[in-house]
Amino acid sequence: MSLMGFLDRLADVSTFDKVIEPARSAVQAVLKPGALKDALHGTWLGHPLHPVLVQVPVGSWASAGLLDAIPPLRPAATVLIGTGVVVSVPAAMSGAADWSEQEVGVRRLGALHAVANTVALGFYVGSLVARAKGRGTLGRVLSYTGLGLATGSAAVGGHMSYAQSSGASHAATAARALTSDWIDLGPLDDLPEGRPALRTAPGSGVTAPLAAVRRGGRVDVFVGACSHLAGPLYEGSVEEVRGHACLVCPWHDSAFDLDNGEPRRGPAANPQEKLDVRMEAGHVMARLPARHQ
Ligand code: FES
Repeated sequence: MSLMGFLDRLADVSTFDKVIEPARSAVQAVLKPGALKDALHGTWLGHPLHPVLVQVPVGSWASAGLLDAIPPLRPAATVLIGTGVVVSVPAAMSGAADWSEQEVGVRRLGALHAVANTVALGFYVGSLVARAKGRGTLGRVLSYTGLGLATGSAAVGGHMSYAQSSGASHAATAARALTSDWIDLGPLDDLPEGRPALRTAPGSGVTAPLAAVRRGGRVDVFVGACSHLAGPLYEGSVEEVRGHACLVCPWHDSAFDLDNGEPRRGPAANPQEKLDVRMEAGHVMARLPARHQ
Protein backbone atom coordinates (compact mmCIF):
# COMPACT_ATOMS: atom_id res chain seq x y z
CA MET A 1 0.00 0.00 0.00
CA SER A 2 1.31 3.46 -0.84
CA LEU A 3 1.76 6.05 1.89
CA MET A 4 -1.18 8.02 0.54
CA GLY A 5 -3.28 4.84 0.36
CA PHE A 6 -2.52 4.46 4.05
CA LEU A 7 -3.90 7.95 4.66
CA ASP A 8 -7.12 6.97 2.87
CA ARG A 9 -7.45 3.95 5.16
CA LEU A 10 -6.86 6.22 8.12
CA ALA A 11 -9.65 8.52 6.94
CA ASP A 12 -12.02 5.53 7.18
CA VAL A 13 -11.24 4.87 10.85
CA SER A 14 -13.85 6.18 13.28
CA THR A 15 -11.96 5.24 16.46
CA PHE A 16 -10.88 8.77 17.27
CA ASP A 17 -14.15 10.47 16.40
CA LYS A 18 -15.06 10.59 20.07
CA VAL A 19 -12.14 12.98 20.51
CA ILE A 20 -12.32 14.69 17.14
CA GLU A 21 -16.00 15.62 17.25
CA PRO A 22 -15.85 17.40 20.63
CA ALA A 23 -12.81 19.27 19.32
CA ARG A 24 -14.83 20.27 16.28
CA SER A 25 -17.68 21.46 18.50
CA ALA A 26 -15.19 23.50 20.52
CA VAL A 27 -13.83 25.13 17.34
CA GLN A 28 -17.37 25.91 16.20
CA ALA A 29 -18.19 27.38 19.61
CA VAL A 30 -15.16 29.68 19.50
CA LEU A 31 -15.31 30.49 15.78
CA LYS A 32 -19.00 31.18 15.31
CA PRO A 33 -20.40 32.04 11.87
CA GLY A 34 -19.67 35.68 11.20
CA ALA A 35 -17.14 38.13 9.84
CA LEU A 36 -14.09 36.67 11.63
CA LYS A 37 -14.79 33.11 10.56
CA ASP A 38 -15.49 34.20 6.98
CA ALA A 39 -12.23 36.16 7.00
CA LEU A 40 -10.40 33.00 8.10
CA HIS A 41 -12.12 30.92 5.43
CA GLY A 42 -11.00 33.40 2.75
CA THR A 43 -14.54 34.25 1.64
CA TRP A 44 -13.40 37.86 1.07
CA LEU A 45 -10.55 36.61 -1.12
CA GLY A 46 -12.59 34.22 -3.26
CA HIS A 47 -10.02 31.55 -2.40
CA PRO A 48 -9.28 29.49 0.73
CA LEU A 49 -7.00 31.54 3.00
CA HIS A 50 -5.30 28.61 4.77
CA PRO A 51 -3.06 27.50 1.87
CA VAL A 52 -2.02 31.13 1.37
CA LEU A 53 -1.01 31.65 5.01
CA VAL A 54 0.83 28.34 5.43
CA GLN A 55 3.35 29.44 2.80
CA VAL A 56 4.97 31.63 5.47
CA PRO A 57 5.73 29.03 8.18
CA VAL A 58 6.53 26.30 5.65
CA GLY A 59 8.80 28.58 3.62
CA SER A 60 10.41 30.19 6.68
CA TRP A 61 11.12 26.92 8.41
CA ALA A 62 12.46 25.21 5.30
CA SER A 63 14.74 28.19 4.62
CA ALA A 64 15.86 28.23 8.24
CA GLY A 65 16.87 24.59 7.89
CA LEU A 66 19.15 25.56 5.03
CA LEU A 67 20.64 28.60 6.79
CA ASP A 68 21.29 26.59 9.96
CA ALA A 69 23.64 24.41 7.93
CA ILE A 70 25.84 27.48 7.24
CA PRO A 71 27.27 28.73 10.60
CA PRO A 72 27.58 32.46 9.76
CA LEU A 73 23.92 32.51 8.68
CA ARG A 74 22.45 30.94 11.81
CA PRO A 75 21.21 34.27 13.28
CA ALA A 76 19.10 34.69 10.13
CA ALA A 77 17.75 31.17 10.63
CA THR A 78 16.55 32.19 14.09
CA VAL A 79 14.70 35.18 12.61
CA LEU A 80 12.99 32.92 10.06
CA ILE A 81 11.99 30.41 12.73
CA GLY A 82 10.43 33.22 14.78
CA THR A 83 8.58 34.49 11.71
CA GLY A 84 7.18 31.02 11.06
CA VAL A 85 6.09 30.64 14.69
CA VAL A 86 4.22 33.96 14.64
CA VAL A 87 2.42 33.37 11.34
CA SER A 88 1.58 29.76 12.21
CA VAL A 89 -1.03 31.09 14.65
CA PRO A 90 -3.37 32.74 12.06
CA ALA A 91 -2.57 29.88 9.66
CA ALA A 92 -3.76 27.38 12.27
CA MET A 93 -6.89 29.43 13.01
CA SER A 94 -7.72 29.53 9.31
CA GLY A 95 -7.19 25.79 9.00
CA ALA A 96 -9.34 25.14 12.06
CA ALA A 97 -12.18 27.25 10.64
CA ASP A 98 -12.12 25.25 7.38
CA TRP A 99 -11.69 21.91 9.15
CA SER A 100 -14.76 22.46 11.32
CA GLU A 101 -16.96 22.64 8.19
CA GLN A 102 -15.56 19.67 6.30
CA GLU A 103 -16.64 16.07 5.70
CA VAL A 104 -15.84 13.36 8.21
CA GLY A 105 -12.88 11.83 6.33
CA VAL A 106 -11.27 15.25 5.95
CA ARG A 107 -11.88 15.93 9.63
CA ARG A 108 -10.04 12.74 10.58
CA LEU A 109 -6.96 13.49 8.52
CA GLY A 110 -7.26 17.15 9.48
CA ALA A 111 -7.01 16.15 13.14
CA LEU A 112 -3.77 14.30 12.39
CA HIS A 113 -2.52 17.32 10.42
CA ALA A 114 -3.33 19.65 13.32
CA VAL A 115 -1.69 17.47 15.97
CA ALA A 116 1.50 17.08 13.91
CA ASN A 117 1.64 20.83 13.26
CA THR A 118 1.07 21.63 16.93
CA VAL A 119 3.89 19.31 17.97
CA ALA A 120 6.13 20.80 15.28
CA LEU A 121 5.30 24.28 16.56
CA GLY A 122 6.25 23.13 20.06
CA PHE A 123 9.65 22.02 18.78
CA TYR A 124 10.18 25.36 17.06
CA VAL A 125 9.23 27.32 20.18
CA GLY A 126 11.61 25.11 22.15
CA SER A 127 14.27 25.80 19.55
CA LEU A 128 13.84 29.56 19.95
CA VAL A 129 14.12 29.24 23.72
CA ALA A 130 17.27 27.11 23.40
CA ARG A 131 18.83 29.57 20.96
CA ALA A 132 18.00 32.49 23.27
CA LYS A 133 19.84 30.69 26.06
CA GLY A 134 22.88 30.18 23.87
CA ARG A 135 22.29 26.45 23.41
CA GLY A 136 22.60 26.54 19.65
CA THR A 137 23.17 22.83 19.07
CA LEU A 138 20.03 21.90 20.99
CA GLY A 139 18.15 24.66 19.15
CA ARG A 140 19.12 23.20 15.79
CA VAL A 141 18.22 19.65 16.83
CA LEU A 142 14.79 20.86 17.93
CA SER A 143 14.17 22.89 14.78
CA TYR A 144 15.26 20.09 12.44
CA THR A 145 12.92 17.74 14.32
CA GLY A 146 10.15 20.31 13.91
CA LEU A 147 10.96 20.58 10.21
CA GLY A 148 10.61 16.83 9.76
CA LEU A 149 7.24 16.85 11.50
CA ALA A 150 5.99 19.91 9.61
CA THR A 151 7.03 18.34 6.31
CA GLY A 152 5.13 15.14 7.07
CA SER A 153 2.14 17.18 8.15
CA ALA A 154 2.28 19.21 4.93
CA ALA A 155 2.06 15.94 3.00
CA VAL A 156 -1.10 15.07 4.93
CA GLY A 157 -2.49 18.53 4.17
CA GLY A 158 -1.69 18.07 0.50
CA HIS A 159 -3.53 14.76 0.48
CA MET A 160 -6.54 16.47 2.06
CA SER A 161 -6.53 19.00 -0.78
CA TYR A 162 -5.70 16.82 -3.77
CA ALA A 163 -7.27 13.47 -2.85
CA GLN A 164 -10.10 14.58 -0.60
CA SER A 165 -10.88 17.85 -2.43
CA SER A 166 -10.73 19.83 0.79
CA GLY A 167 -10.79 23.50 -0.23
CA ALA A 168 -11.35 22.66 -3.90
CA SER A 169 -14.36 24.07 -5.73
CA HIS A 170 -16.92 21.30 -6.09
CA ALA A 171 -18.84 23.55 -8.46
CA ALA A 172 -15.89 23.74 -10.86
CA THR A 173 -15.68 19.93 -10.82
CA ALA A 174 -19.41 19.65 -11.53
CA ALA A 175 -19.14 22.22 -14.33
CA ARG A 176 -16.70 19.98 -16.21
CA ALA A 177 -19.48 17.42 -16.69
CA LEU A 178 -21.71 19.91 -18.55
CA THR A 179 -22.07 20.25 -22.26
CA SER A 180 -20.42 23.31 -23.81
CA ASP A 181 -23.49 23.95 -26.00
CA TRP A 182 -26.31 26.35 -25.22
CA ILE A 183 -28.84 24.57 -22.98
CA ASP A 184 -32.58 25.23 -23.29
CA LEU A 185 -33.93 25.63 -19.73
CA GLY A 186 -37.52 26.09 -20.87
CA PRO A 187 -39.84 29.11 -20.92
CA LEU A 188 -39.03 32.12 -18.75
CA ASP A 189 -42.62 32.13 -17.55
CA ASP A 190 -42.21 28.65 -16.03
CA LEU A 191 -39.58 29.87 -13.57
CA PRO A 192 -40.80 30.94 -10.12
CA GLU A 193 -40.01 34.49 -9.03
CA GLY A 194 -37.26 35.09 -6.45
CA ARG A 195 -36.33 31.55 -5.53
CA PRO A 196 -34.08 28.93 -7.08
CA ALA A 197 -35.54 26.33 -9.39
CA LEU A 198 -34.00 23.04 -10.45
CA ARG A 199 -33.21 22.73 -14.12
CA THR A 200 -31.17 19.95 -15.67
CA ALA A 201 -28.54 20.02 -18.35
CA PRO A 202 -27.05 17.30 -20.50
CA GLY A 203 -23.50 16.38 -19.60
CA SER A 204 -20.95 13.70 -20.35
CA GLY A 205 -23.20 10.68 -19.88
CA VAL A 206 -24.98 12.33 -16.97
CA THR A 207 -27.74 14.84 -16.40
CA ALA A 208 -26.35 17.67 -14.32
CA PRO A 209 -28.45 19.89 -12.02
CA LEU A 210 -28.52 23.65 -12.39
CA ALA A 211 -30.01 26.31 -10.12
CA ALA A 212 -31.94 29.03 -11.98
CA VAL A 213 -33.13 32.18 -10.21
CA ARG A 214 -35.58 34.54 -11.86
CA ARG A 215 -35.89 38.16 -10.80
CA GLY A 216 -38.44 39.77 -13.09
CA GLY A 217 -37.13 39.47 -16.64
CA ARG A 218 -33.64 38.55 -15.47
CA VAL A 219 -32.43 34.99 -14.88
CA ASP A 220 -29.20 33.92 -13.17
CA VAL A 221 -28.13 30.32 -13.69
CA PHE A 222 -25.57 28.47 -11.59
CA VAL A 223 -24.10 25.00 -11.48
CA GLY A 224 -26.36 23.17 -9.04
CA ALA A 225 -23.58 21.76 -6.82
CA CYS A 226 -22.34 24.25 -4.22
CA SER A 227 -18.65 25.13 -4.47
CA HIS A 228 -18.17 24.30 -0.78
CA LEU A 229 -19.22 20.64 -0.53
CA ALA A 230 -21.57 20.17 -3.50
CA GLY A 231 -24.78 20.96 -1.60
CA PRO A 232 -27.96 21.30 -3.75
CA LEU A 233 -28.19 25.03 -4.44
CA TYR A 234 -31.48 24.56 -6.30
CA GLU A 235 -33.00 23.68 -2.90
CA GLY A 236 -31.62 26.86 -1.33
CA SER A 237 -33.10 30.32 -1.02
CA VAL A 238 -32.55 33.88 -2.17
CA GLU A 239 -31.53 36.33 0.55
CA GLU A 240 -29.96 39.73 0.95
CA VAL A 241 -26.52 39.09 2.49
CA ARG A 242 -24.17 41.99 3.31
CA GLY A 243 -25.96 44.20 0.83
CA HIS A 244 -26.00 41.69 -2.03
CA ALA A 245 -28.85 39.57 -3.39
CA CYS A 246 -27.52 36.05 -2.90
CA LEU A 247 -28.28 32.42 -3.57
CA VAL A 248 -27.94 30.63 -0.21
CA CYS A 249 -26.94 26.98 0.11
CA PRO A 250 -29.27 24.83 2.23
CA TRP A 251 -26.41 22.78 3.72
CA HIS A 252 -24.06 25.24 5.45
CA ASP A 253 -25.55 28.64 4.59
CA SER A 254 -22.89 29.85 2.19
CA ALA A 255 -24.21 32.79 0.17
CA PHE A 256 -23.23 33.51 -3.44
CA ASP A 257 -23.82 36.84 -5.15
CA LEU A 258 -26.49 36.41 -7.80
CA ASP A 259 -24.71 38.93 -10.02
CA ASN A 260 -21.35 37.17 -10.26
CA GLY A 261 -21.26 34.06 -8.05
CA GLU A 262 -18.75 35.59 -5.60
CA PRO A 263 -19.08 34.21 -2.06
CA ARG A 264 -20.55 36.81 0.32
CA ARG A 265 -20.83 34.48 3.33
CA GLY A 266 -18.85 31.34 4.19
CA PRO A 267 -17.92 28.67 4.76
CA ALA A 268 -17.49 28.72 0.97
CA ALA A 269 -14.36 30.53 -0.13
CA ASN A 270 -14.56 29.66 -3.82
CA PRO A 271 -17.07 31.39 -6.10
CA GLN A 272 -20.05 29.55 -7.51
CA GLU A 273 -19.84 28.67 -11.20
CA LYS A 274 -22.28 30.85 -13.12
CA LEU A 275 -23.50 30.20 -16.66
CA ASP A 276 -23.92 32.73 -19.44
CA VAL A 277 -27.62 33.38 -20.14
CA ARG A 278 -29.59 34.66 -23.12
CA MET A 279 -33.26 34.66 -24.07
CA GLU A 280 -34.48 33.00 -27.24
CA ALA A 281 -38.15 33.05 -28.23
CA GLY A 282 -39.20 33.33 -24.57
CA HIS A 283 -36.95 30.47 -23.52
CA VAL A 284 -34.01 30.75 -21.12
CA MET A 285 -30.80 29.56 -22.75
CA ALA A 286 -27.67 28.95 -20.64
CA ARG A 287 -24.11 28.00 -21.48
CA LEU A 288 -20.90 27.36 -19.56
CA PRO A 289 -18.46 30.25 -19.69
CA ALA A 290 -15.53 29.86 -22.08
CA ARG A 291 -13.03 28.84 -19.38
CA HIS A 292 -14.78 25.46 -19.03
CA GLN A 293 -15.29 24.72 -22.71
S1 FES B 1 -22.28 22.60 0.68
FE1 FES B 1 -21.55 23.71 2.37
S2 FES B 1 -22.34 25.69 2.05
FE2 FES B 1 -23.01 24.59 0.35
